Amino acid sequence: MSASASGPAPHVPKKTRLGILLSGRGSNFLAIARAIAEGSLAGVEIAVVLSNVVGAPGIAAARELGLPTECFVSRGRPRAEHDADVIACLRQHRVDLICLAGYMRLLSADFIAAYPDRILNIHPSLLPAFPGLDAQMQAFEYGCTVAGCTVHFVDEHLDHGVIVLQRTVPVLDDDDAHTLAARILEQEHLAYPEAIARVVSGRYRIEGRRFVAHAAQTS
Ligand code: GRF
Repeated sequence: MSASASGPAPHVPKKTRLGILLSGRGSNFLAIARAIAEGSLAGVEIAVVLSNVVGAPGIAAARELGLPTECFVSRGRPRAEHDADVIACLRQHRVDLICLAGYMRLLSADFIAAYPDRILNIHPSLLPAFPGLDAQMQAFEYGCTVAGCTVHFVDEHLDHGVIVLQRTVPVLDDDDAHTLAARILEQEHLAYPEAIARVVSGRYRIEGRRFVAHAAQTS
């Protein structure tokens, strides 16, 4: 049936296309995929799941969901060369927003410049405390009574960019680093979809280091 016979085609808003980068098990990726499937994260779709590690379980999980997957092995390659391949792939898949989900690799300055304020990361601590590896263990051994996770924009420094949101977790007397990490992970799975929704809404501005949500409109 032609458009003229049936009237104008309904306007379908373009979805934001996510590029997920991961190196490991991919539980945060799966939480994002679940939120999309359940409808709690609207207006986005996963364009590609990309890994730098052959055999990353997250890639197998993505394949099972029927999502496009790509792998670019990073080990032994110059960072700029590897990142150029990744950027080309993300462009090919028309990615609008990149979500690092356990991607165990620093991004080159060129990569960050290619997607300004379009790259998110999740880190299992309340930044700026405990950047880097084993953040949950660091918080536990430091004796923190509150721990948590952070979703932030990626800039050229490690675990450093503007914070989109944080969720806290109490450290219990009978915790060890593993039980604490497991409870932080539960909060990560809530935090990442929520942070993506905030960014995709576009209803925010960045003031210095602050992510400021626009006030809801009243009419
Ligand atoms: C998460 O703890 C995340 O905060 C950190 O790497 C871990 C990835 O876990 N950046 P998963 O692969 O998403 O299960």
